Amino acid sequence: METDGKVLGLVGSPNREGRTNQLVAAALEGAARAGAPTELIQLADHVVAACKDCLPWVCKDNLKCIYEDEAFEYLSQKILASGALVLGTPVYWWDTSGLVKYLILKMFRVYASSAPLQGLPAFGLAIAGGTGNGLVSGLRPIYHFFQMMQMRAKEPLPATRFNFDTAVERAGKLGEEIAAMANQRLPFSNLEERLLWYDALPYLSLNRAAERRLLAAFAIQSLPSHENAAVALGLARADSLAASGKPLDSLIEVTQVYETGAKTFEGQHLKK
Ligand SMILES: Cc1cc2nc3c(=O)[nH]c(=O)nc-3n(C[C@H](O)[C@H](O)[C@H](O)COP(=O)(O)O)c2cc1C
Repeated sequence: METDGKVLGLVGSPNREGRTNQLVAAALEGAARAGAPTELIQLADHVVAACKDCLPWVCKDNLKCIYEDEAFEYLSQKILASGALVLGTPVYWWDTSGLVKYLILKMFRVYASSAPLQGLPAFGLAIAGGTGNGLVSGLRPIYHFFQMMQMRAKEPLPATRFNFDTAVERAGKLGEEIAAMANQRLPFSNLEERLLWYDALPYLSLNRAAERRLLAAFAIQSLPSHENAAVALGLARADSLAASGKPLDSLIEVTQVYETGAKTFEGQHLKK
């Protein structure tokens, strides 16, 4: 299929004006600055129906779901034609939204075998806008999708309310970078190369404790330096406890840092 060279942004939140939209829009603004045509689509306007796991499995050969699903037809054709993809999700219960999951599960079923998206440049972003928990685990289904579809994904963008302004800026930069790749698909030479590529991406292989440490670091990074220093010492203590074989004590310390950071952050935002 001919690609249209567009950087396509998909907003996976039912809230059209929310933070996912802000981040995806920022990525597309970056892409537009770099000269690429862009298009933003709200998944809320095209809700894909659940894959029914029908047998015989004809959609992998027909490249079409046998059940009528206008939303899936529309979205899958847009993705197939795109020059690059930005996929954004809100984090719900430490996970990707249902709007995104239904789309990617059906994409697997129809297209994973023929892999028409090989080498497509992409990146994913997730906004854990409440506690911030799930900022990495919410990204994983998206990167699993990119990997299974053999796309060439750039680094993921985990966003929380604590690092939101920085994340918007980073989304713009990633948008610019992806725009420069949008005219060319760069398929991997083999499975091994692809697996190593995905293993090398930041954040995705963090365990739960490391994910929580990242969140605590975001929570305190947003504080002014006079408030940040004492709290940051707590993170150093947590690291030293982990290094001395005390993971539970370490994580409890991380939680204290997080709670102090979050409380101060909330206090500041109430003042504004
Ligand atoms: C059902 C549900 C579950 C949520 N779970 C989490 C969560 O696990 N972690 C978190 O930080 N925020 C959570 N939130 C808050 C959302 O991530 C936050 O509101 C985010 O801004 C939503 O994105 P949006 O602004 O694009 O709609 C949840 C919200 C809802 C509605």
